[in-house]
Amino acid sequence: MNYHDHFLAKPLITMELHTAVLLSVLVAGSLAGKCMDPRLTHPVKGKWSFPLPQEEENAVFYRLNYSLYIGGEEILHHFDFEDIKNYKNYTIKADTYRCEGKPHCKNYVTFVGQLSGKLTVCGTNAHNRAGCWAMNGKNFSKLTSSWTAQMAPQTPVTNHNILITGNQVYSTLPPRTNNGRSTMKILFRKISGHDPLLYTGDKLMRDPEFVKSLVVEKEDKMLSKIYLFFTEDNTETRTLEKRLPMVAQLCKEEQGSEKANTRYEFSTALKSRMICGNQLTGQYYPQLQDIYFLQGKTGNVIYGLFKNSWNHSAVCSYEVENIELLFNTSSLWGSSNTKLAIRPGTCLSSYTPEETSDEASKNPELNEWLWPSSKKTVFHNQEHYSKIVVDEITGLNDMIYRVLLLATDNGIVHKVVELEDGAFNALRIMPFKQNGKLLFMDLDPNTVSSTINDVM
Ligand SMILES: *[C@@H]1O[C@H](CO)[C@@H](O)[C@H](O)[C@H]1NC(C)=O
Ligand SMILES: *[C@@H]1O[C@H](CO)[C@@H](O)[C@H](O)[C@H]1NC(C)=O
Ligand SMILES: *[C@@H]1O[C@H](CO)[C@@H](O)[C@H](O)[C@H]1NC(C)=O
Ligand SMILES: *[C@@H]1O[C@H](CO)[C@@H](O)[C@H](O)[C@H]1NC(C)=O
Ligand SMILES: *[C@@H]1O[C@H](CO)[C@@H](O)[C@H](O)[C@H]1NC(C)=O
Repeated sequence: MNYHDHFLAKPLITMELHTAVLLSVLVAGSLAGKCMDPRLTHPVKGKWSFPLPQEEENAVFYRLNYSLYIGGEEILHHFDFEDIKNYKNYTIKADTYRCEGKPHCKNYVTFVGQLSGKLTVCGTNAHNRAGCWAMNGKNFSKLTSSWTAQMAPQTPVTNHNILITGNQVYSTLPPRTNNGRSTMKILFRKISGHDPLLYTGDKLMRDPEFVKSLVVEKEDKMLSKIYLFFTEDNTETRTLEKRLPMVAQLCKEEQGSEKANTRYEFSTALKSRMICGNQLTGQYYPQLQDIYFLQGKTGNVIYGLFKNSWNHSAVCSYEVENIELLFNTSSLWGSSNTKLAIRPGTCLSSYTPEETSDEASKNPELNEWLWPSSKKTVFHNQEHYSKIVVDEITGLNDMIYRVLLLATDNGIVHKVVELEDGAFNALRIMPFKQNGKLLFMDLDPNTVSSTINDVM
């Protein structure tokens, strides 16, 4: 097999926050055969380094083309990898600081991204109503829409999820009352975009922790879906785990229910338990760590990174087609009403009939579990990985191979190649001199010279 040349000599650009060094590393290695352990790298070719003036414990990242934004405490850094001398930063101040003596009396950036085509940062705003600032020429100016308060939490560390697709914005942060507190349940809701601004029903998620949300667009726009990946409390009797990994599917363009008092509920939102493991051996990995959505030449596939209670990791893949098929065909757990004219979860261009939306709202969980492709893991080992990125590479024989990049707890990246008859660990990349947790890892959009940007 000759495909190996394509894995070689990929430049890596890396950055380390804690020791404040940014360096470029050239990776090289060779794959002689399949019988190998994680393999080697020859780091350190590049020469530039960038001091970050302060440690950023809760940094947030946004990659735009060949540049990277890092949001931190009152600051937004911008690294341009094409010309690293173009490094810039912007100070992102709170409106006022009337919170002296209280913890977190600063503006912590918790979101960087694009809103309405403008680079936007959102932050905790020093105990004022949280808010967002959009790039306006050379400076950031405060956005005045009230919904931007739901774009950022009050403190830098929270478990929340923001999803932006076109002009539609979704958030799991509750609307705030005047005292800044909220006792409302955690829901997924549309906070800006075209009407209706729907939110998920009470029973969809039980004390969720969000891992990822994403959109799968369809040619027929009506069928486009939103997927939420989260873990939640287990109240099932079927398994003993305390927390379960779940996927929820909802129709992006749905209109809500025809029933007046649930008119603004997502009437198509259903969920299923995700399984990662080998059905044959009965070995399972119940804890979801990370999700990567591969929109590849070989189809749309969700990759899930899981672990078990010994911190051994496994990767499982799920074809988006199969997820959709599951939601199309499974019955609902606890539901006795099987004679509905319209199945729960069906995407409609009009209001969902009352009996269908009632059923989905009361029993949002599928009977069937989501099993991985081939009912087994892509691979599993005794490492403890925390992040996954997946790439497709065309081999010399024109075959397309999927390459998984997995970050360990101590800042090492393993490159694993997925083959028909299994996966093998091909490279071990050490982008950093020190041990530490990798906070961000992404693929260079320029596939010709595939690059990874890592921040530790
Ligand atoms: C990023 O790349 C896209 C497509 O390649 C281009 O349209 C866009 O202008 C670029 N954005 C910036 C800020 O360079
Ligand atoms: C912002 O950038 C300027 C110019 O590169 C640099 O001198 C300064 O230290 C940076 N400030 C922070 C807080 O990083
Ligand atoms: C941007 O901010 C700087 C410094 O605060 C100020 O001097 C300048 O006038 C501002 N520019 C714009 C376009 O608002
Ligand atoms: C698993 O990893 C977590 C986080 O790194 C750690 O706190 C825990 O002790 C580990 N558990 C085991 C069994 O090694
Ligand atoms: C699921 O059902 C919708 C319509 O009800 C259909 O358009 C779609 O092709 C189905 N998907 C699969 C994978 O069966």
